[in-house]
Amino acid sequence: MKVIGPNGIMRHRRARIGVTIAAALALGTGMLAVASTQPARAAAGCQVNYSIVTQWDVGFTGNIIITNLGDPLTSWTLEYDYPGNQQLTQSWNSTFTQTGTHVTLNNASFNASLGTNATVNPGFNASYANTNVSPTSFTLNGVACTGTAPTSPPTSPPPSSPPPSSPPPSSPPPSSSPPTTTAPPGPPAVTHVDNPFAGAVGYLNPDYQKEIADNAPTTGTLGAEASEVANIPSAVWLDSMSAVTGTATRMSLQAHLDAALAQEQADGQQLTAEFVIYDLPNRDCAALASNGELRIAQNGLSIYESQYIDPIAALMSDPKYQNVRIVTVVEPDSLPNLVTNLSIADCAEANSSGAYRMGIQYALNKLHAIPNVYTYIDLGHYAWLGWDSNFNPAVTLITGVIKGTTAGVNSVDGFISDTAGYSTTTEPFMTANQTVGGQPVRSAHFYQFNTYIDEASYDTAMYNAFVAQGFPASIGMLIDTSRNGWGGAARPAGPSTSTTLDTFVNDSRIDRRPQSGGWCNQSGAGLGTRPVASPMPHFDAFVWIKPPGESDGTSDSTATRFDAMCDPNAQNRYDNSVKTNALPGAPQAGQWFEAEFEMLLGNAFPAL
Ligand code: GLC
Repeated sequence: MKVIGPNGIMRHRRARIGVTIAAALALGTGMLAVASTQPARAAAGCQVNYSIVTQWDVGFTGNIIITNLGDPLTSWTLEYDYPGNQQLTQSWNSTFTQTGTHVTLNNASFNASLGTNATVNPGFNASYANTNVSPTSFTLNGVACTGTAPTSPPTSPPPSSPPPSSPPPSSPPPSSSPPTTTAPPGPPAVTHVDNPFAGAVGYLNPDYQKEIADNAPTTGTLGAEASEVANIPSAVWLDSMSAVTGTATRMSLQAHLDAALAQEQADGQQLTAEFVIYDLPNRDCAALASNGELRIAQNGLSIYESQYIDPIAALMSDPKYQNVRIVTVVEPDSLPNLVTNLSIADCAEANSSGAYRMGIQYALNKLHAIPNVYTYIDLGHYAWLGWDSNFNPAVTLITGVIKGTTAGVNSVDGFISDTAGYSTTTEPFMTANQTVGGQPVRSAHFYQFNTYIDEASYDTAMYNAFVAQGFPASIGMLIDTSRNGWGGAARPAGPSTSTTLDTFVNDSRIDRRPQSGGWCNQSGAGLGTRPVASPMPHFDAFVWIKPPGESDGTSDSTATRFDAMCDPNAQNRYDNSVKTNALPGAPQAGQWFEAEFEMLLGNAFPAL
């Protein structure tokens, strides 16, 4: 009885039943004069080519080409043993089981038939530790693959004459030229896309959602707005080694990656998950509010590399997360501090020791090596590095650091500005070089002759400067818009009519800080543009990196890490003619600050 299989290849069901019988009859007799309808015993043999396609610290992608050198098979099982601790995590064009070091690969539904000299090509991802020595001996359906054809000829000798010019018979005999199974492709190879935010949704951090649920109103307008914000993606700040391993109150990095994978699988959409790499020794060297746990003088760089970056890279390189686009913001404020704050001891040490440069290079080397990890280097903001006297040294310094990595300019996907900042994306009612009363806007007291007056123009200039340094044109810029909206009742509705420069500027600017360097819990701030991909040329996205509602630093002058810039009653150290504009009652950096959260909601622009 003949059964036409799903893909049109004829199968002799009787033959399948008969092979066992024939095998018993034909042992040792080679080709058997077939008296029954049973074909002779199947000769067996195979060749296997096992290769490592890509390998990273703790994982690799493998490829196997199996050639059937014996009679046609209607199903196949490949088996082998690893010499080491390799562990398959995913396979394609096959299904797998693994017991200890023993791996069993079975055919997929679409490639079970394997004719003589036909090949099939299973692939897989696997983890390993230390060494990754490849296996060398394999069996196919229990028969050792010695790579040579079997001694007994195939059951039906190849045609003596060249195949007929007429079209071959509709159903070729089983051992004629093997059917070519066009196996569907394996899983999408992990490709590193130009813009990870394009066509993707963002990971919702459960810890942040819990902060809102535990602290914000759950009813009324505020309750509705809080619920809306809980569903806007923002970044996870890996601000300590314990943020990687997890604590009683914070999810571990692995838990975040598992949650991101689960969200992606539940949504059925490509997902980006944003993480801030933030634990350099002498961290936040020009301020106190976010000083970190590591010190350069206490072996901080070595600890940063081995106990912070290495565990992060090991987790992010797990093949099971390979389809999550992991976006990393690398060490906010660090390199900008080496441009403008070398007069401060902690920054001078970070510079002279090389710790910031080497730490960031180590991080880029490890993170960029993982195909689905994307890296963005921090550029401060326009009111920090916008002046030419800062801008040009910053481009030189940052270019030098990045070119010193293994992949050079290709080790970053782009740059980010305004991380946890309040500088506006654009100033809608004026431009830097517009004149008022015969003087350019940029010469007003608030702008102090800065070349730029907002992030979009600053970042565009930075983009052009880095491309001119040899970075690929495909790099993309990010702006953290989580708290630079400056909406609410106090927002100007349009440009001032004044012809006095400072009056015009102060009445037209939507950034209502008394001074453009105010960075701590700024009163009057509001949520900014919601995260969006490709918002303008050369920008990968506007993103929410600082989770709105988390403090920038304590306002308690008796607390550790107290910085006067967070004291509402102190003068601003960058312009002591004005106060800091910091909110009172602020907790330590990173802690929940409900009053600030509700202010940000009320001053959101666009409004919630
Ligand atoms: C601040 C803190 C950091 C926190 C982050 C996000 O920079 O220093 O600990 O995780 O903001 O709120």
